[in-house]
Amino acid sequence: MSFDTIIRGGSVVTATDTYPADVAIAGGKIVAIGADLSSSGVGQNAKVIEASGKLVLPGGIDVHTHLDMPFGGTTSADDFETGTRAAAFGGTTTLIDFAIQYKGQALRQAFDTWMGKAASKAVCDYAFHCIMTDVSGGQLAEMNDLVREGVTSFKLFMAYPGVFMLDDGSIFKALQRTSQNGGLICMHAENGSAIDVIVQQALAEGKKAPKYHALTRPTTAEAEAVSRAIALAEMAGAPIYIVHLSCNDALEKVREARDRGLPVYAETCPQYLYLSIENFDAPGFEGAKYVFTPPLRDKWHQEKLWQGLQRDHLQVVSTDHCPFCFKEQKEMGKDDFTKIPNGGPGVEHRMSLIYSGGVARGRFSANRFVELVSTTPAKLFGLYPRKGTIAVGSDADLVVFDPKRKHTISAKTHHMRVDYSMFEGIEVTGMPDVVLSRGRVVVEGDKFLGKAGQGEFLRRAMYAQVNG
Ligand code: URP
Ligand code: ZN
Ligand code: ZN
Repeated sequence: MSFDTIIRGGSVVTATDTYPADVAIAGGKIVAIGADLSSSGVGQNAKVIEASGKLVLPGGIDVHTHLDMPFGGTTSADDFETGTRAAAFGGTTTLIDFAIQYKGQALRQAFDTWMGKAASKAVCDYAFHCIMTDVSGGQLAEMNDLVREGVTSFKLFMAYPGVFMLDDGSIFKALQRTSQNGGLICMHAENGSAIDVIVQQALAEGKKAPKYHALTRPTTAEAEAVSRAIALAEMAGAPIYIVHLSCNDALEKVREARDRGLPVYAETCPQYLYLSIENFDAPGFEGAKYVFTPPLRDKWHQEKLWQGLQRDHLQVVSTDHCPFCFKEQKEMGKDDFTKIPNGGPGVEHRMSLIYSGGVARGRFSANRFVELVSTTPAKLFGLYPRKGTIAVGSDADLVVFDPKRKHTISAKTHHMRVDYSMFEGIEVTGMPDVVLSRGRVVVEGDKFLGKAGQGEFLRRAMYAQVNG
């Protein structure tokens, strides 16, 4: 065997260790980790990527994106090509997106439709959760088939009545299924029925500006739903993963459940760590840029969420990347906040935002950073140890990351196909220099070297296989 590539002289960072080593790649896999690999016989003809002074990280895994998704009367602006490309620029080499089962459909139909959207376009590897909006037919039994095909997690909604929301009985039945088939339910936890009443009352009072999106979705509505979801999962004997947790009230429910030893997990997203309800003070209709669900909260919640990440009350940072352009898409709700498509762009900047706010600010170690953005996502969603770590035999999804490089985020320079940035003007410390997907360099500085269709669909193991 000879090495194809050697990443030389960097500091290898995993969820547990940091140490100086070269990393050698052959056939898309990591085949050796050690000192001075380029001077060995097998390393002499290898391409060398210099990493001295840099960190060598496992590729980021973003377990919550919505590419090419019909929603709110329009379709999210990034498809699987532009979205995975932007992800790669930010050091994220695996995405788990959502295949949506609409009412009356088989789950298989959702899976086939989303495979059709991704297969010829993705530039890095991808997988799917299945969103279930109807379990009145054979869909519960079908969950087992999907799990066997490597779609081992399912997103359910306690919000968006009439669109995605399921009643508690249906949720409970789906949880019972995963307790048997080893899968994992991801929950959008907000009390959709109560929120709907508050929204209708606000509209009747003429409150139609973007900020009312946030003011009609109180933190209590999220905390109540998180608590109910946990109770349903406990009764069903199933694990549960709360998506896009936004506030301290909800965090407290997760913390209490974990203190009781329940298999309860939660993610938050960079927008909840960096932005707040104050963003709705932007002039004119600009507040629409920050309309996503759950909404932005009072600023003090941010530090509580950072603490949650530090103390393992939160286990994952994803993005909930669901981009809609300001022009023409967000503008659909100019006269009524309920018509603004819900979602924001973020897939490109997750790694830098979390490294910057977490490690560079001294809130947690580089190892904890890797755990939050790569290793735990891989473990919970059945990709470990193929993804999520730097080990012999793992895929060579690797990021040469400059921990000192500063960058000011802007829509002028980002790669997402959207006309604004939620994080415009924020300066981060820590940027990817070189990004490899299964051994191929896909990003080098500002050059994109990947190709559409190079990304592979990942059949995932069951939650229960990796997590006991
Ligand atoms: O506003 C959001 N989060 N849009 C995407 C759909 C969802 O609820 O995750
Ligand atoms: Zn959601
Ligand atoms: Zn989402």
